[in-house]
Amino acid sequence: MQPLKVLSVFGTRPEAIKMAPLVKMMEKDPRFSSRVCVTAQHREMLDSVLALFDITPWKDLNIMKHGQTITDITVRTLAGLQEILKDYRPDYLLVHGDTTTTFVASLAAFYEKIPVGHVEAGLRTGNIYSPYPEEMNRRLTGTLATLHFAPTQQNREHLLKENVAPDQIFITGNTVIDALLSVIQPDYDFRDEKLNRLVSEREAHPLVVMTCHRRENWGAPMEQIFEAVCRLARRYPHYRVIYPVHLNPAIGKLAETTLGREPNVHLIQPLDYAPFANLLNAATLILTDSGGIQEEAPALGKPILVMRTETERPEAVAAGTVQVTSVETEAIFRAAVHLLDDPVVWEKMARAVNPYGDGQASRRIGEALLYGAGHLSAPPDKWEGERKNNRDYC
Ligand code: UD1
Ligand code: UDP
Repeated sequence: MQPLKVLSVFGTRPEAIKMAPLVKMMEKDPRFSSRVCVTAQHREMLDSVLALFDITPWKDLNIMKHGQTITDITVRTLAGLQEILKDYRPDYLLVHGDTTTTFVASLAAFYEKIPVGHVEAGLRTGNIYSPYPEEMNRRLTGTLATLHFAPTQQNREHLLKENVAPDQIFITGNTVIDALLSVIQPDYDFRDEKLNRLVSEREAHPLVVMTCHRRENWGAPMEQIFEAVCRLARRYPHYRVIYPVHLNPAIGKLAETTLGREPNVHLIQPLDYAPFANLLNAATLILTDSGGIQEEAPALGKPILVMRTETERPEAVAAGTVQVTSVETEAIFRAAVHLLDDPVVWEKMARAVNPYGDGQASRRIGEALLYGAGHLSAPPDKWEGERKNNRDYC
């Protein structure tokens, strides 16, 4: 049988991190003929992931512009993919998650009648404006896709409610755990003097790691979030807050004028994935509005406050390691104080749980793809979502 021709299309940092283990697996497996096309919706933040995992794109649309709008990304991706898909005609196009690259690549494939496999399918908040535009991107991608790789049982149920055929959904776990397990190391050397020092001093000066970038938080919500972090930094002067600031200039400016004034808040450039994941592993508390970090922190046994109004990742909330605080200053501040002042509360939240995977998601997705294309007679095993201790994997 001919190898299955798979074209993976992605463009931003989180997509690259979560597609990398799958791309590497397909590169090595002779049952696949795998190529990568990047839109480069992100440039530097994408390139650092490609370098880490040693992925050389076959095509690079290089679409990023500073201050790009969702429409810019849409138009440039759609136009860029048209000829590539017409000429190459993969058996499957693979996309990940919920970015505008994801949705538009799926649409471009649909126009060419190329089936789409959706990795990280079925996450939902139920609110089309939160997260914006991701909730709509993933719904539209789900409508366009033929095969759906759902990380959890709950994600599968969302798809079933939307009338996706049960035999097109595979519960695989999330590839983010495959990626995380490949970079976490005890006694990690950050190759950066300042980070090595901050991490080595964490007994006396515990670390709070934060990220904040979501489009729906731009403006007033982000100001409230930053105000909460300023108050925390003042209440706990011996703590250190480390914030690798997203490259969007609008975020950097606000961070600089607010958080930049606090002596124990360290605003730094975005970190490459390996140092960032190992920094998370050294943290006492994580504050974020990111999607992927909500999956990584529980696997590392780190309490995490999600500074958003809702989450599409309720599994770790149910397991007790994630709390959704809203974006209000007082609510974020109080939730953090409760956690940092009460060791019992902290211990309860710091239990390592793995609702999102066991490091085998890429293998399952590969097998499901082959099965869906008629190259294998049996579907893969299903990720059961056992809450095993992190130490079983790390
Ligand atoms: C995008 C995704 C979001 C995802 C996030 C992950 C959309 C609409 N948004 O949001 O779903 O959660 O990525 O981080 O798909 N920039 C750089 N260099 C980079 C990356 C970004 O300079 O490597 C700057 C550019 O000025 C760019 C801006 O950041 O215009 C915004 O990037 P964009 O991809 O439009 O939005 P994000 O907020 O990053
Ligand atoms: N991340 C990283 N460096 C950083 C901040 C985050 O490598 O400085 C990683 C993080 O571990 C996670 C992913 O980027 O895997 C999350 O990306 P982001 O927050 O940009 O997007 P989201 O997950 O919200 O879509």
